[in-house]
Amino acid sequence: MQWKRKDLLGLYDLSAEEITFILDTAAEFKKVSERRVKKVPALRGMTVVNFFVEPSTRTRVSFELAEQRLSAEALQVDLVVMRHSATGAQNFIADRLKCGVINAGDGAHEHPTQGLLDLFTIREKKGGFKGLNVSIIGDILHSRVARSNIWGLLKLGANVTVAGPSTLVPREFEEIGVRVCHNLKDAVADADVVNLLRIQHERQNNGFFPGIGEYASHFGVKSSTFDFMRPDVLIMHPGPINRDVELAGEVADGKNSVILEQVTNGLAVRMAVLFLVAGCRK
Ligand code: CP
Repeated sequence: MQWKRKDLLGLYDLSAEEITFILDTAAEFKKVSERRVKKVPALRGMTVVNFFVEPSTRTRVSFELAEQRLSAEALQVDLVVMRHSATGAQNFIADRLKCGVINAGDGAHEHPTQGLLDLFTIREKKGGFKGLNVSIIGDILHSRVARSNIWGLLKLGANVTVAGPSTLVPREFEEIGVRVCHNLKDAVADADVVNLLRIQHERQNNGFFPGIGEYASHFGVKSSTFDFMRPDVLIMHPGPINRDVELAGEVADGKNSVILEQVTNGLAVRMAVLFLVAGCRK
């Protein structure tokens, strides 16, 4: 297929074919990152602006490295990579600018490149999505990572469960085709993948749950949680991790964890997205 979109604003907008095309392109860029010479001229002569109005470490550094590896440089803006606290800020900008806009996270709405790197990691480890059971646990209500994962996983044929306290995982999520669970054991028992999300304190007022300790005791994944999980379950987390809250340190560093591979794959996915979106500018 040929990529035809000027912007990447969310996975909700994409077809399964488009998502698969990005993942396939990222697989090629992952091979580039494993070569001795890691730089390619794909964006030579183009300018990318990283416009982050909300804090970011992983996404920003990953995009910066992807842009350097694709040789972006020169004058006049061709692409804007943007993070903003307001839902839809990137859609607003994309409608008004000729340059391409890549969403690096907008409020609690979408974080498409995080969703894509999670999909890339799952596909690499599990071989595909059809019939795969993926459980996303944490503050689903305020999480853009959860939404991008949900849209992408459903489109590619996975079964999605969301779990956490009822205040952070309302029943309304069932209306979009996901299973809602308020019990950790039920959520993880049949899971091929468990993706743990942090509590989004920056997007919520107080009072959604009694305290971090109580949250950790009910929904934190510990070594003992493996007593009722599949032995080959993948443990994922988008970062930043709160050790001993959403998962114990030994689980984050354990043999089922692919958290560091997610970071590596993020670079390949962002190179692919920059390359494809930039291709619409030439
Ligand atoms: N996973 C993620 O989006 O991390 P940052 O907020 O550090 O970019």
